Amino acid sequence: MRTSLAKIFAVGLAAALVASGCNNDREGSAPAGGSSGAPAAGFAKDALIGVALPSKTSENWVLAGDLFTNGLKEAGFQSDVQYAGASTTVADQQAQITAMVTKGAKVIVIGATDAAQLSTQVEQAKQSGAVVIAYDRLITNTTNVDYYIAFDNFKVGQLQGQALLDGMKAKKATGPWTIELFSGSPDDNNSGVFFNGAMEVLKPAIEKGDVIVGSGQTDVKQTATQGWKAENAQSRMDSLLTSTYTSKTLDGVLSPNDTLARAIITSVKGAGKPIPVVTGQDSEVESVKSIMAGEQYSTINKDTRKLVAETINMVKTLQTGATPQVNDTKSYNNGVKVVPAYLLPPVIVTKANAAEAYTDDPKLAPLTK
Ligand code: BGC
Repeated sequence: MRTSLAKIFAVGLAAALVASGCNNDREGSAPAGGSSGAPAAGFAKDALIGVALPSKTSENWVLAGDLFTNGLKEAGFQSDVQYAGASTTVADQQAQITAMVTKGAKVIVIGATDAAQLSTQVEQAKQSGAVVIAYDRLITNTTNVDYYIAFDNFKVGQLQGQALLDGMKAKKATGPWTIELFSGSPDDNNSGVFFNGAMEVLKPAIEKGDVIVGSGQTDVKQTATQGWKAENAQSRMDSLLTSTYTSKTLDGVLSPNDTLARAIITSVKGAGKPIPVVTGQDSEVESVKSIMAGEQYSTINKDTRKLVAETINMVKTLQTGATPQVNDTKSYNNGVKVVPAYLLPPVIVTKANAAEAYTDDPKLAPLTK
């Protein structure tokens, strides 16, 4: 499990550079195979549904918890919605899942805090007859995950890479453009998926010399942001500015999410430098404001309301004993099996399309007026 994640990170840029259109970038490199689908047994209409979420590293997780609690109740289920704590996240989440199994949960929805550390718990879940759904983040190297439901995270990375190129071109018509790369927490399987998606787009420009990674830090180990913590991204950006950009201009930064994008912008502003093109993800309130103010360049809209609603639909289907609908059975290999996935399309958002993108979002739409 570690191996599959380690591989993603060890190969870093190199893997992203060699891969072209193959699906292996979305996970570890073990061959596809294994079973798919869950036992269609059905269960009581008021059964317990467990939801184990990671710590609240971005707004989407906070919102997801509330939506699951209310949505499952509305659908007639009992629910147990838990977050991993801020520091001992892995042990917390492991204990929470075990407790859900003990209490007899029929479906356990998991946003993994560490993709590679849940094999024992999901095995317990399967042995008890529960269905395991990986939510937003894939759980790796186990056959005991029945479904994956997420926005297409490889596509998220591709959209981020393309936005970075487009944003830099709009500011300065011809290259070379100098960039820096940031990735997410190494324990989150999504981090490698986002990075590989983005690098698939950036690779040709880097190879042509149109885009230069100023620090030369292209290995995902160097670009990683432990725990998805803003302070870690900010201090890395501080160091990069001092080591590489005393006289050079920084044109763009690949940031995997909004929290880190704002930390990067804070660092650049603190150093008195012009703000480069910075990507993001999650449509966080402060980042949408920053985009409208012309600071952060882009974000990704992965509407949590839709993702939770689709997950609850899956639970309802399982309750009846039917097999939930999936729309992808080849892309998300977790190292030992291709997990049947229901993928939603992420949407790139810049100042140009923000009003349109958030038109039905009561919280974000007013910010775009
Ligand atoms: C999610 C992102 C989020 C990040 C940090 C990822 O797994 O897909 O939306 O920004 O975790 O919370």
